[in-house]
Amino acid sequence: NKVVLAYSGGLDTSVCIRYLQTLHKMDVITVTVDCGQDDDFAGIERRAKAIGAIKHVYVDAKDEFAKDYVIPSIKANGLYQGKYPLATALARPLIAAKTVEVATKENAVAIAHGCTGKGNDQIRFDVTMRALRPDLKIIAPIRDMNLTRDVEIKYAKEQNIPISTEAKKYSIDLNLWGRAVEGGSIEDADFEPPEEAFQFINFKNDKAGYIDLEFDQGVPVAADGKRMSLTDLIQYVNDKAGAHGVGIVDHIEDRVVGIKSREVYEAPAALTIIEAHRDLEKMVLTKHELAFKRTVDDQWSWLAYAGLWQDPLRADLDRFIDATQTRVSGKVRVKLQRGSIRVVGRQSRYSLYKNDLATYAAGSTFDQSLAKGFVELWGLQSIIANSVADTAGKK
Ligand code: ARG
Ligand code: SIN
Repeated sequence: NKVVLAYSGGLDTSVCIRYLQTLHKMDVITVTVDCGQDDDFAGIERRAKAIGAIKHVYVDAKDEFAKDYVIPSIKANGLYQGKYPLATALARPLIAAKTVEVATKENAVAIAHGCTGKGNDQIRFDVTMRALRPDLKIIAPIRDMNLTRDVEIKYAKEQNIPISTEAKKYSIDLNLWGRAVEGGSIEDADFEPPEEAFQFINFKNDKAGYIDLEFDQGVPVAADGKRMSLTDLIQYVNDKAGAHGVGIVDHIEDRVVGIKSREVYEAPAALTIIEAHRDLEKMVLTKHELAFKRTVDDQWSWLAYAGLWQDPLRADLDRFIDATQTRVSGKVRVKLQRGSIRVVGRQSRYSLYKNDLATYAAGSTFDQSLAKGFVELWGLQSIIANSVADTAGKK
């Protein structure tokens, strides 16, 4: 009886290995999916086996993550509640899919994950797993037994399950697109996250820096004049923006299950790239396209956040979004300083910005005399409504 467990090497999933063995009496195969978390994967494999996994599988999914999950999110300006760049949310359906693949290959009867019953991750895992292999049983030991982190740490100690000292302080989820820090002292919504909670941010650098980003049909293809693969580009921007203090998100977030949570993220590249991408869209898309796309982007972000990556609506929205991106090519110059991101220049061969129309200087081709009649018609109803309200008030 084999079960395939999505294994990160952290506290929750380490505890799961032992529970699956002892409580469910199953042979545990662990799968670690690399979405750019830059972990010690050999160490993770050793840990899995030391706890009792009969087999461990490492899956390098970095390029797939970048291509099929991060790129659509850039095109959609993916930010949940206008703030969270969705790093964890995007990786979960991919991790679930890879875990299912291994389960099929290994002829397993069940798949398992280490999510709690309080978060969004359980939804993302369960929905993807059931969409792909509805016949497999899903076991989620932490959720099933209503375990808390304190109980898990105690159990790990009793059972000689090795856990990192960092895991005792915060619960971290890291991938190419960003890092989430949860638990410990920052669960107090009124407590400022200490500098030690962050990995990429330089808090001391006061100097300004610039980054030039080039987009081709909505996708960043070069940084500071150098063409790079998307994974390299993200890492490059992450290092550079982080060095100027850019990338922290600290907000109150609405989880799908109704809980409000205080979330702290670190995503220098994601925030910088989305800011630049959005700016370029404003230059090349019409105001009608922009207004409509804004609602599409919000809906897309919601689906990705809420574990509905598999819903056909997401793919439908992707087709609309892709259609809008054909003109989103050009260069954006971003200034980074003490945590702020400011676009200071942009250019595109598809630009709808025409200097001869916009200029207040001589040489404008805009005929101002046309404006007078337009303004009269534009404000017609508003002006009438005010005069009617005046009479109503006098009665
Ligand atoms: N609140 C974020 C989300 O729902 C972050 C979750 C972090 N997950 C984790 N396993 N530590 O995507
Ligand atoms: C979890 O509860 O397992 C992690 C956090 C989340 O899913 O939001």
